[in-house]
Amino acid sequence: MRLKGRRIVITGAASGIGRATAELFAREGARIAVLDMNQAGADATAKSVSGTAIVVDVRKEESVNQAIEKAAAAMGGIDGLVNAAGVAFHAPIKDTALSDWQRVIDINLTGPFLVCRAAMPWLLKAGGATIVNIASGAALLPFAGSSVYAASKAGLLNFNRVLAKELAPTVRANVVCPGIVDTPMLTALEQDRDPAVKAATADLYALKRKAQPEEIAAAILFLTSVESSYMTGSTLTVDGGRTFH
Ligand SMILES: NC(=O)c1ccc[n+]([C@@H]2O[C@H](COP(=O)([O-])OP(=O)(O)OC[C@H]3O[C@@H](n4cnc5c(N)ncnc54)[C@H](O)[C@@H]3O)[C@@H](O)[C@H]2O)c1
Repeated sequence: MRLKGRRIVITGAASGIGRATAELFAREGARIAVLDMNQAGADATAKSVSGTAIVVDVRKEESVNQAIEKAAAAMGGIDGLVNAAGVAFHAPIKDTALSDWQRVIDINLTGPFLVCRAAMPWLLKAGGATIVNIASGAALLPFAGSSVYAASKAGLLNFNRVLAKELAPTVRANVVCPGIVDTPMLTALEQDRDPAVKAATADLYALKRKAQPEEIAAAILFLTSVESSYMTGSTLTVDGGRTFH
């Protein structure tokens, strides 16, 4: 029960890493506000964690402000935030339309900014609050074809450093950089991919396999619990050993 009594907002909690995090956090005693643009998915996660589902579009300021106020009202405050909502995009720069670029930046970078800013007064009011932003190994060691995704996640990494500095010592803010994780996002990305390309991709990871979302959730739990009490502004790679070599 490492999160007993904690009140935690998780964006992107309808699916994948966000959902696995909500389920793990609930088992550790937390109350959860499940924020996502997918209403049915958010309802399903909320049901499984006895939490509150709140529909949000993290790109939209008003939607985010309202969702955070609803979350705080439902839980009586907020003392933890996990920004897991995100989208993938893979194309060479020459085939990346301005609309693709703007959509990915809006969701992956502007989204966490809006959510952190809206939650900040609640987090500062609570004792020992935490933020975990989910970036990617692509923020550290990008692939060809990942220009806007890698830029959005590298931007998130530096945004988190400023956030950690501005909120210290009251609130801690850290980043997790996952490698390749078995979620609907990856399934969609891989659907048209040649098996040889998939095998070559897996080969880049020292552990030679994808992660399960629960393995990323375990790192997010560590950064949300007091076990990481001396960490802020840090980047924790949970990437099967792709980016260290
Ligand atoms: N799966 C991977 O291999 C992988 C690797 C590295 C990083 N990540 C990052 O982890 C995070 C979670 O990814 P996942 O694999 O669980 O993906 P996922 O597609 O399973 O879940 C993402 C969730 O974000 C929600 N979402 C998307 N746009 C939104 C918006 N505008 N407003 C609110 N919610 C929105 C979706 O509805 C979905 O429920 C993302 O930030 C992703 O970039 C994933």
